[in-house]
Amino acid sequence: MNHATFLSLLLIFGAPLLSFYFTVPVLAANSTSNSTHILLSCGTSETSIDYVNNLTWIGDSKTNYISQKASQTSPIPYGSPSVPYNNARIFTSNYTYTFPLSPGRYFLRLYFNPANYSNLIASDSYFAVTAGPYTLLSNFSAWITVTALTYDYLVREFSINVTSTTLNLTFAPSTTQPKAYAFINGIEIMSSPDIFSTSPAYLADGTNSLFPYDPGMAFQTMYRLNVGGRSLNRFEDSGLYRSWDDDSIYIFGADFGVTFQKDSNVTIEYPSTMPQYIAPVLVYETARSMGPYPKINLNSNLTWILNVDAGFYYLLRFHFCEIQYPMTKVNQRVFFIYINNQTAQSQFDVIAYSGGIGIPIYMDYVVITAGSGQMDMWVTLHPDLSTQTEYFDAILNGLEVFKMSKVENNLAGLNPVPPPQNIVDPTRAFNNKHKESKGKVMAIIVGVVGSVLLLSFIVCICLFMIYKQKKKKDKVSEEGKVSEEATVWTPLSFYGISNSQSDVSAKTNTTSTGTSTGNGTGSHNSSLPANLCRHFSFHEILAATNRFDEALVLGVGGFGKVYQGEIDNGSTKVAIKRGNPLSEQGIHEFQTEIELLSKLRHRHLVSLIGYCEEENEMILVYDYMARGTLREHLYKTQNAPLTWKQRLEICIGAARGLHYLHTGAKHTVIHRDVKTTNILLDEKWVAKVSDFGLSKTGPTLDHTHVSTVVKGSFGYLDPEYFRRQQLSEKSDVYSFGVVLFEVLCARPPIISNDVPKEQVNLADWALFCQRKGVLEEIIDSYLKGKIAPQCLKKYAETAEKCLADQGIDRPSIGDVLWNLEFALQLQINAEESGSVVGGTTSGEETPAVILRKKELADEPTSESTSTTNTTMSMGGRSIASTDSDRLAPSAVFSEIMNPKGQ
Ligand SMILES: *[C@@H]1O[C@H](CO)[C@@H](O)[C@H](O)[C@H]1NC(C)=O
Ligand SMILES: *[C@@H]1O[C@H](CO)[C@@H](O)[C@H](O)[C@H]1NC(C)=O
Ligand SMILES: *[C@@H]1O[C@H](CO)[C@@H](O)[C@H](O)[C@H]1NC(C)=O
Ligand SMILES: *[C@@H]1O[C@H](CO)[C@@H](O)[C@H](O)[C@H]1NC(C)=O
Ligand SMILES: *[C@@H]1O[C@H](CO)[C@@H](O)[C@H](O)[C@H]1NC(C)=O
Ligand SMILES: *[C@@H]1O[C@H](CO)[C@@H](O)[C@H](O)[C@H]1NC(C)=O
Ligand SMILES: *[C@@H]1O[C@H](CO)[C@@H](O)[C@H](O)[C@H]1NC(C)=O
Ligand SMILES: *[C@@H]1O[C@H](CO)[C@@H](O)[C@H](O)[C@H]1NC(C)=O
Repeated sequence: MNHATFLSLLLIFGAPLLSFYFTVPVLAANSTSNSTHILLSCGTSETSIDYVNNLTWIGDSKTNYISQKASQTSPIPYGSPSVPYNNARIFTSNYTYTFPLSPGRYFLRLYFNPANYSNLIASDSYFAVTAGPYTLLSNFSAWITVTALTYDYLVREFSINVTSTTLNLTFAPSTTQPKAYAFINGIEIMSSPDIFSTSPAYLADGTNSLFPYDPGMAFQTMYRLNVGGRSLNRFEDSGLYRSWDDDSIYIFGADFGVTFQKDSNVTIEYPSTMPQYIAPVLVYETARSMGPYPKINLNSNLTWILNVDAGFYYLLRFHFCEIQYPMTKVNQRVFFIYINNQTAQSQFDVIAYSGGIGIPIYMDYVVITAGSGQMDMWVTLHPDLSTQTEYFDAILNGLEVFKMSKVENNLAGLNPVPPPQNIVDPTRAFNNKHKESKGKVMAIIVGVVGSVLLLSFIVCICLFMIYKQKKKKDKVSEEGKVSEEATVWTPLSFYGISNSQSDVSAKTNTTSTGTSTGNGTGSHNSSLPANLCRHFSFHEILAATNRFDEALVLGVGGFGKVYQGEIDNGSTKVAIKRGNPLSEQGIHEFQTEIELLSKLRHRHLVSLIGYCEEENEMILVYDYMARGTLREHLYKTQNAPLTWKQRLEICIGAARGLHYLHTGAKHTVIHRDVKTTNILLDEKWVAKVSDFGLSKTGPTLDHTHVSTVVKGSFGYLDPEYFRRQQLSEKSDVYSFGVVLFEVLCARPPIISNDVPKEQVNLADWALFCQRKGVLEEIIDSYLKGKIAPQCLKKYAETAEKCLADQGIDRPSIGDVLWNLEFALQLQINAEESGSVVGGTTSGEETPAVILRKKELADEPTSESTSTTNTTMSMGGRSIASTDSDRLAPSAVFSEIMNPKGQ
């Protein structure tokens, strides 16, 4: 759907849709009387809308902020990342934007996407940025920074005090680096209340003396963590458009503690002294504590390691709130707060400071660091027994770290030093891969081909989780698992800031080198940092699976078995995949992959909990999904049919998971095998995408060898990918389009026997019916009459667009998601107005179920995941199908054999 259509629809359905879509209330900061919110998309004259955060970005060429016209503009040389990263303004000499502002405090957010603009090289860019009297960045290389962090682009957030009526924001190319230039993709300026002077800050040196607050200071946000909760997008913030990240990847060591949510009978009530803009309710509603075992807690610490620039003052803001019974009295949970091994606070008791359960409190501490370069900041909690405390435990709900411009208004740190394996030729990293010389990358390819084969092998471990048992309800969730009540889409989750400098976001191109993700946290750069992913001993795995008890086998794939298991003394159910033992070399690759996978956490992804590589074993431990695969609920099943609303919600969940893979993680992760058996359902029917990631992007997809590893499942395979061996996110969009029709029609993507030829391939058949306007005749008979016509129309159009022949004509998964949300809203409206009866969720046997049971022949075996050679015979079918063939569906593989793209 293009933006114009979208807007017109928005006008028609505006109010209900928006209130539905943005389910989280925006608690306006009390700055509305004179609030400023400038969003500049640099280097363009176009206005673009970021629908996710409901923000409109104005092209800077149109505005008066541009004084000189001397600078170049450039579109991004590849792909189409989202606003504001899709255009840049380039400066080869000093350049100043002038913003008329009323005096006060402002958030200034700078958006950088280092790329090879025009004929410039990304790594040549070095520049300084000053805002009024403050030096924000100096000799800054966005390229080195993203390389070290393994992101594609990043945001820097500052809070500055504007004292005059204009703000001059100057970009100055470095004078010491040859060929240096400066660039900027987006500038955001937003008036903010004074969030810093609202509470006293104590020096975290054990003396507990007050830190003298200087109102003229500027701050740079280094971290903003929703501890024990999921990442929150900018729209979910309490009015200041800050993003909050999941804290789990910063936890040091094996002691993750436990995460939990507020009891349902607790309401968060801000004290009158505390404005809501300090932090949103969502931050206080979740927390992490050390766990229920006092002995373990006494002998361990709950520690976060945060990489920062040495030589600065830092303000650490801790957010606390007791949210579960019976924590209502003082002296129940009393603990130490250590920062960098010094006691910042002893005898901290949330109830004593806040006054009761459900009442938030925040504490500010200032630490002074010495030296230069990067350093790790340790934040540690430990029970304090100096009072008669009842539980030996500690709790934290949120944590913010700000760098302070204490000295000479300077906030600029040094560029990070990328781990050696991350230093790559930027032309390689950003240019079109087809232009690469073979010889230059041969060494990489050789290594990579090996790993590709190996990894494909890992991928192929079957993930049929034929789960029947219900997962035990357990309030204390496993580490890293996101909150169950999460309902809001967090696409640019800013997740995975393994390193300094907050607000770093997503990867958008697919041509990164991906040789390694290196965690970049400097001091613990070993093969697998324990703080990312749990390591299981083989002994633990044996115990969890009752020595690989055959009775616990959930599924068997071509390359191994999936067992149901229990870890942590039976408190957590998991799925354990056991592959064949690995070689030494294989283990290294395995570790690299695990490191990447373990950083991918999202409500709609099946989380990798841990792994085991002892004794050359290759074992992965995943969340257990109680309701099995989506397909098991669609056809050839004893399960009751899903209502249309349920199906839409599941598709929306899966689309969110994919959206996160495509845009929310450090690397664009292309799933490559989206299908209904890779969409799993937990006990609450939350859809989770599985089996992702081991097929990450990078040179594995290099043109020179990808032809041997076209991966995917027949019926879902992107024809363009097959023709050109060019993989992009749009290949997943294609497969998802097939999933959408599969969900609608409740039939397999391929039926090889007993059907007329034109019906063999669902994608062809559904497109054919859709274009003939007879789609309703092939939908699941259970759904007939239960789908609101407008909803069906929207849904079918969306699915149809996903199946566009050319990737470029397909919508992004974000657009798909939006359209599905919209379709759901149409359905809800229709059901509420009584024009459609949606059907119940309870499982009475309808005729459709019975029909389903005797339904349709088995799919061909090749349907399952396979590593296939592009030269495969395709069942001997002719390559001669043409474009017109596509409209009249012909053979099974007409889609993938269309030679037009050769
Ligand atoms: C906003 O601030 C004004 C004064 O600046 C105050 O009178 C008003 O009560 C505040 N409103 C809220 C909702 O806090
Ligand atoms: C609002 O801004 C204008 C200038 O833009 C200034 O004159 C006025 O005093 C401001 N009002 C408040 C309440 O800050
Ligand atoms: C989205 O932004 C527009 C313009 O800023 C605003 O009018 C509208 O209320 C916002 N929508 C929501 C749900 O906040
Ligand atoms: C901003 O720059 C303009 C011209 O470069 C200058 O006239 C003005 O004084 C500057 N403003 C501030 C606040 O420095
Ligand atoms: C550009 O700005 C830098 C730092 O802000 C300054 O050192 C340099 O002299 C300026 N160059 C020119 C030509 O004004
Ligand atoms: C900005 O700085 C000036 C001078 O230091 C101070 O008087 C003013 O209160 C500050 N404003 C804010 C919002 O911090
Ligand atoms: C709230 O619910 C918890 C259990 O979830 C219970 O232990 C507690 O007594 C309840 N408190 C009140 C005030 O209802
Ligand atoms: C916990 O951290 C504190 C402060 O860094 C340290 O003194 C103590 O030894 C640590 N305890 C354990 C068990 O690691």
